[in-house]
Amino acid sequence: MPDPFHMTVEEAATLLRSGKLCAFPTETVYGLGADATDPDAVLSIYETKGRPRFNPLIIHCADRDMAERLAVFSPLARRLAETFWPGPLSIVLPLRTGHGLADIATAGLDTVALRMPDHPLALELLRATGRPLAAPSANPSGRLSPTTADQVRGAFAGKVPVLDGGPCKAGVESTILAIDGDRLIQLRAGALSRETIETAMEQPVERVEEGAAISAPGMLLSHYAPNARMRLDTSPLPGEAYLAFGSPAPHNSLVRNLSESGDLHEAARNLFSMLHELDAAGVQLIAVAPIPETGLGEAINDRLRRAAAPRT
Ligand code: TXA
Ligand code: MG
Repeated sequence: MPDPFHMTVEEAATLLRSGKLCAFPTETVYGLGADATDPDAVLSIYETKGRPRFNPLIIHCADRDMAERLAVFSPLARRLAETFWPGPLSIVLPLRTGHGLADIATAGLDTVALRMPDHPLALELLRATGRPLAAPSANPSGRLSPTTADQVRGAFAGKVPVLDGGPCKAGVESTILAIDGDRLIQLRAGALSRETIETAMEQPVERVEEGAAISAPGMLLSHYAPNARMRLDTSPLPGEAYLAFGSPAPHNSLVRNLSESGDLHEAARNLFSMLHELDAAGVQLIAVAPIPETGLGEAINDRLRRAAAPRT
């Protein structure tokens, strides 16, 4: 058994090839990885996270060749992958006959969400493993996503080995797109903004409506939740912690500023980490400043709304 605190890519690949779980860094958040072709390995992702079985996993690929062996790419899908991979974009595509993925990884659907992560260790690991890797965020289902290896260790009490790649540079999960003929439909706002996709593809990206025919089965209302309760679009009451954005906020131990300069990339990178920090400080209530709904603000506000939603 390799030292779970100082693993090499080769050791992580050996674990994954033998059907074990291993968490690894991506540019978005840390993933809890398993060989996506091994049903028992994928099952242990669901068990370890306490994740509902109807919620399919994103499958990570080493390159476009690996992805094309799993799914059928239309010309539009291929253009998306050529433009944005490696990068924080997951594309939902029809499964290819003979794909070899475990049914449980796709929750029995006839489509699969694929992405090629933009992180040198993730790509090395995928190449060394030689298999597609199923990897949801490495946290118990419904809780905050991890952006450091320490947060992964904390979330699973040190029971999951982690390949440590330092803090994640994007800080929120990948954007998920579905393709319907020549339409692009965003199923989850994420680290690649809709505006960026629209500019590069020279076409609109539609936002999915609640209850629409096409959806991401895992988009539960209460998700990404810290221990503390949250109030959005507001300023703090006495005694409340405060997640600020932009304008100068009071400096005290209960205040974190997502970005003093009002930079949405910096805010996305800090979001989960600062919520983890406030949780660790034991606060009960967090007031959150308004965040503009443009660019990465869409993904940040999506995560905040779910974090603040009533919990079941
Ligand atoms: O940034 C990310 O995407 C991270 C890192 C680790 O890569 N992964 C991640 O995976 O966020 P996960 O499992 O937490 O998110 C999976 C999302 C769910 O909302 C699920 O419903 C959706 O992807 N999804 C997966 N397969 C799908 C499919 N065939 N059709 C529609 N949605 C799908
Ligand atoms: Mg997640």
